[in-house]
Amino acid sequence: MKSLFRALLIVPLALAGMQVYAADYTIKFSHVVAAQTPKGKAAELFAKLVEERTNGRVKVEVFPNSQLYNDNKVLEAMRLSDSKTTGLMAAPSLSKFVKFSKTLQTFDLPYLFKDINDVHKLVDSPLMDRLSSGLDKKGLRALTVWDNGMKVFSINGDKPLRNVPADFKGKKFRIQSSKIAASMIEHLGGTPQKLPFKEVYTALGQGVVDGQENAWSNVYSKKFHEVQSFVSVSNHSYLGYLVVVSDEFWKNLPADIRTAVSSSLKDATAANRKYAAEADKADRKKIAADKYAKVVDMTDAERDVWRKATAPVWTEFRDEIGGELIDDVNKLLGR
Ligand code: SIN
Repeated sequence: MKSLFRALLIVPLALAGMQVYAADYTIKFSHVVAAQTPKGKAAELFAKLVEERTNGRVKVEVFPNSQLYNDNKVLEAMRLSDSKTTGLMAAPSLSKFVKFSKTLQTFDLPYLFKDINDVHKLVDSPLMDRLSSGLDKKGLRALTVWDNGMKVFSINGDKPLRNVPADFKGKKFRIQSSKIAASMIEHLGGTPQKLPFKEVYTALGQGVVDGQENAWSNVYSKKFHEVQSFVSVSNHSYLGYLVVVSDEFWKNLPADIRTAVSSSLKDATAANRKYAAEADKADRKKIAADKYAKVVDMTDAERDVWRKATAPVWTEFRDEIGGELIDDVNKLLGR
């Protein structure tokens, strides 16, 4: 008891000798994936850079693995938040903005991107402002785009997904809250089922769904491959994130703080692209080496059959997204 009393006395005295300031602003960065993924690592780097560049005036707390919110709830919470000193930030996948933006659905169009270089061409172009416009009216401020990578399909059972629609027939696939992903699965011959990310492993393991689509780092870090038989390298669409913050919080930040946060995000974005490129290769290798699920490469000709099968999705969503915008994106990507 005596020593506890001494300790209680010493701590405030020790702190009195140090310069300890409370932060003026706190950013709670919520995400749903593991800390070692490209998004998780970029969020940690962002937190460190912001604290350095604001001399501790802004503290960033990162919450991985849906600890704070799942993706759909975080956007609602962000829109409702009116604190000027505590801001909610998140990086939900572009597919999860479906309730707030018709134009961002462009990113879900099957086979829009040949590879990640195509993605960067679009994201770094002035068209990105058109794609994300209007979010501020919904209380969300779009700040940058982070990569995960191209998506692959995994499935349980005795044969991989290769032939469409035959290999998709009678199979259920977990998708994000994307209308385009739902239509794409139907055109491939399967049945889509929307589920939050944190339920996917259990749903696959218990056979609630037979398969799913995701980037390599999510498959590996959440162990989806341990409850799947095959992974087909379809590269059919892009998994990327829009980093957003409550518009109200953002507008109320002093200009020097906004500059420091923006420059930290710029550097975290550059690092994220590097992390994503590394994870894409490394996690694919780890999945193959684990030998739970067999990795099945696909030829360009096979992918072309999938592309043709899913082409009607483009027509179905053309008016909703905006035909002129789709044409401009196609032009930029050299189609
Ligand atoms: C994420 O990468 O943030 C989650 C993607 C998913 O819901 O599949």
